[in-house]
Formats: sequence, structure tokens, C-alpha cells
Amino acid sequence: MKHALLIVCACALTVLFVSAVPAQDNSAGIIQYRQKVMGAQSGHLGGIGQILKHSLPFKEDIPSHARAVANLAKLLPKLFPEGTGEGKTDALPKIWQDMDGFKKAAGKLEQEASKLAQVAQSGDSGAIMAQLKKTGKACGGCHKKFRQPKEKRKSWKKKK
Ligand code: HEC
Repeated sequence: MKHALLIVCACALTVLFVSAVPAQDNSAGIIQYRQKVMGAQSGHLGGIGQILKHSLPFKEDIPSHARAVANLAKLLPKLFPEGTGEGKTDALPKIWQDMDGFKKAAGKLEQEASKLAQVAQSGDSGAIMAQLKKTGKACGGCHKKFRQPKEKRKSWKKKK
């Protein structure tokens, strides 16, 4: 009985220890993960663009893509914990100096993408295209402030 208790205690401690490891220790992994999430955002918006551009018979799928963007937008602030601004990342230090502004930018995307999901239900290509542009602007609005400018992106790839 006493032994069993000790084992339980040891396990509980291990769990505590593991969950107490600061996020920075895994910053390279977090950076790679959030870049994948961004790529997914791009895929969803680009997919909607293709459906409209080629008048594909998948218009009814547009709300699914738009909702995916809105859902992922909610995750964004948490993918940028303190200590993940260095390394193979294009995130600017401004994110951590102005976390409120960053959260606002993520909220704006969530709002526009949710609206896109709604507008898409109308099936009106013109209206969907207009809202798609607004959603894209919400991506760009955040990038402009919080991501390296184009010419400086992925600079770590050039270093040997
Ligand atoms: C709240 C701010 C914010 C919003 C909103 C946002 N992004 Fe980003 N995005 C970033 C930051 C910061 C980076 C750089 C991340 C890094 O390198 O660690 C980035 C990087 C990217 C990348 C490059 C990923 C890579 O592989 O390096 C793509 C593509 C991208 N974003 C697409 C989008 C699209 C599409 C949207 C809108 C649907 C969007 N982003 C919305 C902040 C944002």
C-alpha cells in the first residue's frame, strides 16, 4: 500500500515537472508548428480563390474553408509565447512589445473569416470575392506590423 502511494506520488511529480518545462525549451518546434498553421491558412484562402476563379462546382465548400481560417485565427496568439522570437522565424519582436495589438490583429482575422463563412452561404460570387479580399487584408494587416518585410524573410536559409 505504502509502495503504491509512493509510485503515485512519483508519477504526479513527473507530470508536474514535465508540464513545468518552459515553452522556450521547445521554441524551434513551436516556430515550425506555427509556420505550418500559417501555411494551412494560406491553403484555405487560396483554395477559396481557386473555386471562385475557375467557377469550380465546390462553392458549397467555401464556408468550411472560411470557418477553418476563423478557427485557426483563434489559436494564433498562443502560438507566439515569450521566448519564441529568435531562431528560424520571421516574427518581429514587436509581437511581444504589443501583444494586445497582436491579439487584436488575430481577432480581426477571426471576424472577417467568420463573415466570409456567412457571406459564402449566399452563393453570390461577387460578394464572396469582396469578403475574401477583406479577409486577405486581415492577414496582411498583421504581417505588415508583426512579420519581417518580404526582402528579409527566411534570411536564416541563406546563412551557412
Ligand atoms: C495575428 C497576426 C497574423 C495573422 C492574422 C496572420 N499571420 Fe501569417 N504570419 C504571422 C507571423 C508573425 C508570421 C511569421 C511566423 C514565424 O516565422 O515564426 C507569419 C507567417 C506566415 C506565413 C509564412 C509561414 C512559413 O512557412 O514561414 C504564411 C504563408 C502566412 N503567415 C499566411 C497567413 C495567411 C494566409 C493569413 C490569413 C488567413 C495569416 N497569415 C494571418 C502573423 C499573422
